[in-house]
Amino acid sequence: MSEPMTDAESGRPLPMTVPVAGLPERVTIYEVGPRDGLQNEQVVVPVEVKAEFVRRLAGAGLPIVEATSFVHPRWVPQLADAAELMTLLTDELGDAARRMPVLVPNERGLDRALELDLQHIAIFGSATETFARKNLNRGLDDQLAMFEPTVARAREAGMDVRAYVSMCFGDPWEGAVPLEQVVAVGTRLLDLGASQLSLGDTIGVGTAGQVQALVRAFEEAGVGTDRLAMHFHDTYGQALANTLAALQVGITTFDASAGGLGGCPYAHSATGNLATEDLVWMLSGLGIEHGVDLDAVVATSTWMAGHLGRPSPSAVVRALGSSG
Ligand code: HMG
Ligand code: MG
Repeated sequence: MSEPMTDAESGRPLPMTVPVAGLPERVTIYEVGPRDGLQNEQVVVPVEVKAEFVRRLAGAGLPIVEATSFVHPRWVPQLADAAELMTLLTDELGDAARRMPVLVPNERGLDRALELDLQHIAIFGSATETFARKNLNRGLDDQLAMFEPTVARAREAGMDVRAYVSMCFGDPWEGAVPLEQVVAVGTRLLDLGASQLSLGDTIGVGTAGQVQALVRAFEEAGVGTDRLAMHFHDTYGQALANTLAALQVGITTFDASAGGLGGCPYAHSATGNLATEDLVWMLSGLGIEHGVDLDAVVATSTWMAGHLGRPSPSAVVRALGSSG
């Protein structure tokens, strides 16, 4: 316990590292700020600023940065510049940018990603009928019919495919969502050929026991924790508690958004994602490796908050502050 509580160089506060037995040694943080974060902002951020955001996040050691969405530009105008952004990034970063995941709902989106030689897409299904209709203009079965040829062609082209399933812990229109329903949709998405399934608490209503029950339900259905990721929104302040609960049952990939930006324009009760900085602080405190430079992410979020014209909702960003 003789560890300093401040960084020797910067003098900024550090979390005390006290490991807890039984947790993973290492975690992968899947950064969604440029996509989930910026899709929900009132202002449309200029493409050069988006590119700088992505570059700074990758430079801060985030191993995966989901960069944008190839969805219908009228549905998400904030990300209508997806092709322009990915061209800027690939010109500068080459294959590192081509490996950055982009959201793709259908074959039209896939074609747009293929034109730029991108290598990693993420499809996004819903566990509920209502949200599938609101977000994808399709019912539960029809969303799968849309994804099936998309994933097949992506796999043929050698792409990696991640799948999200939204509304895993509750839905603003349908209320409680049965575990079996989430597992049924999730396993069908994996069976299409996705390598990883990210379980979305789209509106942030989930609680810790629910998280562990859902992971167990997937394990009982033959889906191990190595194929699962968690995607928490922090609407009710439960994201870190839910992360700890997920770590306890062996999850090692967590989605997070720099500065706690995020939300879904088609689920208005969705607010920001789990903030990358809050996650990094907790993981460092638990002695879990993550490879991310906290100061660099805080500076990036502070800089981005200036562009968005509002302070970051992340508690750690607020506590540490930075001139960016
Ligand atoms: P639709 O209107 O049913 O589309 O929208 P369609 O298939 O009938 O096609 C209509 C026209 O749109 C056609 O053009 C298509 O080419 C064009 P036309 O022939 O009439 O000239 N089109 C496209 N153009 C560009 N890119 C495309 C595309 N697709 C069709 N990809 C669609 C269906 C899925 C496209 C629409 O509903 C959509 O774009 N939805 C996206 C909504 C969205 O992005 N939501 C936020 C992301 S999900 C989320 O945030 C949750 C998550 O974070 C996890 C969690 O928190 O739970 C992932
Ligand atoms: Mg989300």
